[in-house]
Amino acid sequence: MTHRILMLPGDHIGPEIVAEAERVLRCLGDVFGLAIELEYAHLGGCGVDAEGAPLPQSTLALARAADAALLGAVGGPEWDGLERSLRPERGLLAIRAELGLFANLRPALAFPELAGASSLRPDVVSGLDILIVRELTGGIYFGEPRGIRERADGVREGFNTLVYGADEIERIGRVAFAAAERRGGRLCSVDKANVLESSELWREVMTGLASDHPDVALSHMYVDNAAMQLVRAPRQFDVMVTGNLFGDILSDCAAMLTGSIGMLPSASLDELGRGLYEPVHGSAPDISGQGKANPLATILSVAMMLRHSLNEGELADRVERAVATVLGEGLRTPDLAAEGAPAIGTVAMGDAVVAALQAQAG
Ligand code: IPM
Ligand code: MG
Repeated sequence: MTHRILMLPGDHIGPEIVAEAERVLRCLGDVFGLAIELEYAHLGGCGVDAEGAPLPQSTLALARAADAALLGAVGGPEWDGLERSLRPERGLLAIRAELGLFANLRPALAFPELAGASSLRPDVVSGLDILIVRELTGGIYFGEPRGIRERADGVREGFNTLVYGADEIERIGRVAFAAAERRGGRLCSVDKANVLESSELWREVMTGLASDHPDVALSHMYVDNAAMQLVRAPRQFDVMVTGNLFGDILSDCAAMLTGSIGMLPSASLDELGRGLYEPVHGSAPDISGQGKANPLATILSVAMMLRHSLNEGELADRVERAVATVLGEGLRTPDLAAEGAPAIGTVAMGDAVVAALQAQAG
């Protein structure tokens, strides 16, 4: 069976890192017989420039027809002045909503080779292996009503709505419990149930799911404490499940524990496991066009795609092993290199991963 993959390079460093991911996919095709058909489309600022919308209709149609999509990154200062509906981020939010990608998996894994790169002490972060399961198509990001209006006294106010249906909580809960079953068997649900009714229901629904998953130890934590625990003693966590906004914040925090946000992949999945895969980092306008972006998070996103959408778990393992190999060889892009230490560029890092994959074939 040929897998149809939609490539969405996006903006700034996006095309540079997606090019390396493409080389990895092609190598898997040539060396290990992965049957793929790649298509390209615009998402983000490039969509605005080329087709007048951050999520062009043509992109959406291709995404619906594909088995999976790989995104580089979207956004940049040149589009910040546009009206809200044309900003690159809207394209990302719209494709998540249109494709029903409610389950966002964000692993934070500390590679032993990079233990020194974290801003926390190596003894605090070594061996870290957390999976954040973030609800991605609901909560305050999408709740209505929303807007900016004028109060009776003439003062303007901005307002948003934090709303979660029990059905939305349950479906993300099921994804998180299943992930905990496959991993270390511990699930921490993060909320703000001491203040918010939406969190009160969240906690109730998560607790209700626990009886279906006797092998998972469920705990609850308020989000402020969770942020503190992530930097105090992050290894206490296995899987964390939380809503859209809390998950946005906590996943950046967890990412930094590992030393480089340039290493972290993510998956956004629908009910059937079809998904959009992307590095957690952004489009890095400050280094775009310089050939020094780290392509590893995008390459690791390919591994997640192979595992979660294409049913090619063995090839996913190979890609992850290849990344571990190049790190073990001491190869570093500038974001990973210690101060003053030698670093290599985007293409050279892609070369190294491809070489490591070829070496696996013997
Ligand atoms: C993320 C990003 C997005 C989000 C932005 C770019 C809309 O921060 O994927 O974490 O807030 O979800
Ligand atoms: Mg974010």
